[in-house]
Amino acid sequence: MKIEIKNLSKAYGPEKSVLSGINLDFRPPSIVGLIGPNGAGKTTFMKILVRQLLASTGAIKIDGVDIGKNENYLKNRLGYLPQEFGLYEELTVYQFLDYMALLKGLTSGKKERIESCIDKTGLSEKQNARIKTLSGGQKQRVGIAQALLNDPELLIVDEPTVGLDPAERVKFRNLLTENANHRLVLLSTHIIEDVESICNRLIILNRGEILFDGNPVELIKKAAGHVGVLDSDCEAGPDIEKGCIVTSRLIIETGSQYRIVGDKLPSGIKPVPPSLEDAYMYLITQSG
Ligand SMILES: Nc1ncnc2c1ncn2[C@@H]1O[C@H](COP(=O)(O)OP(=O)(O)OP(=O)(O)O)[C@@H](O)[C@H]1O
Ligand SMILES: [Mg+2]
Repeated sequence: MKIEIKNLSKAYGPEKSVLSGINLDFRPPSIVGLIGPNGAGKTTFMKILVRQLLASTGAIKIDGVDIGKNENYLKNRLGYLPQEFGLYEELTVYQFLDYMALLKGLTSGKKERIESCIDKTGLSEKQNARIKTLSGGQKQRVGIAQALLNDPELLIVDEPTVGLDPAERVKFRNLLTENANHRLVLLSTHIIEDVESICNRLIILNRGEILFDGNPVELIKKAAGHVGVLDSDCEAGPDIEKGCIVTSRLIIETGSQYRIVGDKLPSGIKPVPPSLEDAYMYLITQSG
């Protein structure tokens, strides 16, 4: 499968441009992390890809097929977990997945697929519970289970790890990597650890434009020499220059240690190798 996106843009009304000039190619196997600040356009981009929204300009082709001209071509290959996923609260987990399987046109092997997705998402004990009785994280798992029902070639998940506890998050990442050899996964997240551990490609979206497209190592390289730590016993923290930001504070014996990212670091700072999170923060702050 090959996805080609050319000159994609989206505006909500005449004044509200949300995406502009997006050109991207995707090929499996790949797990692509889509990151960016709130309002950057991640959900809008994903909704356009799954045909929940129409683009203002541009074209999207899957294997040379325009997704607007053959929606079934996309539908048969797609699994999608929206950021805001409405569940039928009165149904049990099994009933809901059965219903979703029907909508997806699954017939042969339906029961086995549902059971396998229930098992993979750790919902076996809850399969006969009504959705309204589940916790937030358990509901999120039902959303993930429905996205995997048709063993999709293209899996698009919008902030899938929100609400999952740390152990579940690890399990979820494993689930994504388990069947990734034939799949293209597009995952949006604010949790850098998610992308760090599983994504081989990162796309940073900021104000509707692509700020970075490459692998995590390339991103980290961009921040080399722009990250340092500074010890300070002053309660108000260090006096940092414009263009620098404090990304974390660590309590140490003598006071606090501040981690600072910026183009021109303050004097007296001890340079440290950038983490992926530092590099992301560096790029975002530099883009203004
Ligand atoms: N239906 C809509 N009508 C008007 N503006 C919208 C609509 N949906 C989204 N927007 C605007 O489009 C921009 C991008 O929103 P989007 O939901 O794509 O961002 P996001 O990157 O997914 O953010 P988040 O990280 O908060 O989920 C925001 O400024 C938002 O206010
Ligand atoms: Mg979003």
